[in-house]
Amino acid sequence: MEFDFSDRMKGLKANAIREIFKYLSDPQMISFAGGMPNKEALPVEILSELSEKLFKDKSIYGVLQYGSTEGYMPLRQSSVDFVKRMGIDGIDTDNTLIITGGQQGIDLTCKVFLNKGDCILVEDPTYIAVLHILKTYEAKAYGVKSNHDGIDTDDLEAKIKKYKPKFIYLVPTFGNPTGKNYPLSKRKKILELAVKYGTIILEDDSYSHLRFGGEYVQSIKSLDTTGNVIYNTSYSKIISPGIRCGVCVADKEIIAKMILCKQATDVHTSALSQALCDGFLRGNYLDGHLKKILPIYSSKKSLMREAIKKYMPTDFECTNPDGGLFIFGSFKEGTDTSDYFVRALQSKVAYVNGIDFYASGDVRNTLRLNFSNSTDEQIERGIKILGDIFKER
Ligand SMILES: Cc1ncc(COP(=O)(O)O)c(C=O)c1O
Repeated sequence: MEFDFSDRMKGLKANAIREIFKYLSDPQMISFAGGMPNKEALPVEILSELSEKLFKDKSIYGVLQYGSTEGYMPLRQSSVDFVKRMGIDGIDTDNTLIITGGQQGIDLTCKVFLNKGDCILVEDPTYIAVLHILKTYEAKAYGVKSNHDGIDTDDLEAKIKKYKPKFIYLVPTFGNPTGKNYPLSKRKKILELAVKYGTIILEDDSYSHLRFGGEYVQSIKSLDTTGNVIYNTSYSKIISPGIRCGVCVADKEIIAKMILCKQATDVHTSALSQALCDGFLRGNYLDGHLKKILPIYSSKKSLMREAIKKYMPTDFECTNPDGGLFIFGSFKEGTDTSDYFVRALQSKVAYVNGIDFYASGDVRNTLRLNFSNSTDEQIERGIKILGDIFKER
């Protein structure tokens, strides 16, 4: 049977990271590929206590039933308090939608705003999955140049004028893949441009709580007085990615449209997961948990950078992020990291080729390394293996 798939399936491939996940079931594999929290950073005991309490409470019957699409009301309320940590104030629960992970917030934004052929601007490089999602809506992503401190606002303005984007997708705090943290002045400028040209910013804030250095910088959403910013955050990296919970904060009119789309997609985010997240936030476990996990991540990042210095070729330069889960590195031009990718997998080490994160640039000499998921011993051994492979260029 020859299947007559939709036009949007033409040329759509699995995103590179999801492809690599196939290899990760090999217990020998050292994975610097996905953005997975460390096993030690998953709050198993807290979640186990919260589950036990939840199942003993009468409210469990409500949790095990169908719920409302906009989200479990206690979690919407505790999420309003949660986003105050990022300076977002003056909102109520009608400005929030509980989403099935931050990823769904990106998908729903696309569903609500995009027609086939619409243009979107992203920082080049950007979060890989957003490029994949945009393809499923047959939209066009254009990359904006990136400087040492984030997106280049001159290039952004030029491209807003040229492409008239429906929205600008940004990860301003510890961006994936580069870990850059935009200064406040840049955040203000970006918002000013969005207001001036009447476009929307989709601010993806998956990592601001994973800060182990540098200064706190408030979110773009916290500066927004006009409703131009859709703010997406997630409980994946600070509680657990497997519970698939996040929150989207936006103008009430946008949230209402997103609810209509989410109804069609998954009715609602797992109520059990939402109740656990709510228990986690209300029980004030977050600060203690962050206190435990941030030193782990900070130490793993330093360990990986030391191993890079020791084992990688001298032309390999890499970032030193103050937060997030990734180190982004580049070789001198002329090295195509994808040429070494299969050899690395055969040697049981996985990384992600930088090219997969670019919307426009044909940049082949970069790669992304995750430092959170491996043991200290695996970091040392895995980087040594990569060093040996790249030294043979
Ligand atoms: C920038 C960014 N946005 C969104 C996500 C999606 O996360 P989740 O759907 O697990 O919340 C990720 C995950 O790695 C990410 O790095």
